[in-house]
Amino acid sequence: MNHSRSTGQETRPTRILKADPEGITEAARLLRAGGLVALPTETVYGLAADATSGQAVAGIYAAKERPSFNPLISHLPSVEAARREGIFDANALALARAFWPGPLTLVVPAAPACQVSELARAGLGSVALRVPSHPLAHAVLEAVGLPVAAPSANRSGRISATSAAHVLADLDGRIDAVIDAGPTEVGVESTIVACLDGAPRLLRPGGVSRAAIEGVIGRSLVDAGESGAAPISPGLLASHYAPAAGVRLAAEAPRADEAWLGFGPERGGLIAPAISLNLSPAGDLREAAANLFGYLRQLDAHGPRAIAVAPIPDHGLGEAINDRLRRAAAPR
Ligand code: TXA
Ligand code: MG
Repeated sequence: MNHSRSTGQETRPTRILKADPEGITEAARLLRAGGLVALPTETVYGLAADATSGQAVAGIYAAKERPSFNPLISHLPSVEAARREGIFDANALALARAFWPGPLTLVVPAAPACQVSELARAGLGSVALRVPSHPLAHAVLEAVGLPVAAPSANRSGRISATSAAHVLADLDGRIDAVIDAGPTEVGVESTIVACLDGAPRLLRPGGVSRAAIEGVIGRSLVDAGESGAAPISPGLLASHYAPAAGVRLAAEAPRADEAWLGFGPERGGLIAPAISLNLSPAGDLREAAANLFGYLRQLDAHGPRAIAVAPIPDHGLGEAINDRLRRAAAPR
């Protein structure tokens, strides 16, 4: 099936590839030829391009309409492949062995033989690396045989895509293909940890909890922005993941004209909102993370004045959920 749409920039038909061997081969061929392919990872869909090609990477920025050249995460099929691109200290190696493949990104000094283009690294001496666990992503990475840059497959400033339909809603006509492998499992992006100066730093909470990481390194993570010479994530803008509606956090109940995003058992006596969804009636943070971006999109589509969100506990995956909700609620 072919899709194309006038977007005010260069358009191309976006093909929908199946999550089968043929789809994998075609995705790898397109990527090696410098194309743009959205593919599923266990966290969110990524907009992939050959990380070693500045021209291919520039295509990502154009399709997403990213205002500035934030550095991108390069994806690899194995720890060994990642170690050719970056220099891993003892903490980085322990984290890679504990959590790869999986929803963790490590920012490490670039190796002398690093193939990742200057543009994908935004000229920094460091490189962000991740080995995803999604079998489809893994198969494509094996077939491409090069580091693959992939930010979330949404237009800049919009909510991350957790299904092929979300990808097409933002990028149809701007990318060569999307592989449709159904909804993603984790639902929030990877945790980003910088291992640059001996003190591992949490740049972004995500799919691996702070507690799990601290358990492996045997010490507390330094928070981004705390102490020392800062390798701050340039892409971590306060306002991000933004629905069109306003977002009101830690709400007790919806007000008039507000949509309601609940968590845990609903109490009686709420004003019945025009539309309401519950991230996890059972209060399960994993279920809530998996539903977060899709539910924000669904509520936003009804055009409410604002989305009121129930309080979410801040432990485990809750830290990443609350981080994304704060960005969605930030003034813009
Ligand atoms: O789960 C994920 O991480 C998804 C999937 C597709 O893998 N990817 C993703 O990429 O969320 P993106 O581009 O939306 O976020 C990458 C973040 C940005 O905030 C960027 O600033 C930061 O990683 N980053 C990349 N390279 C960095 C570096 N060398 N130093 C510090 N931060 C870096
Ligand atoms: Mg993103």
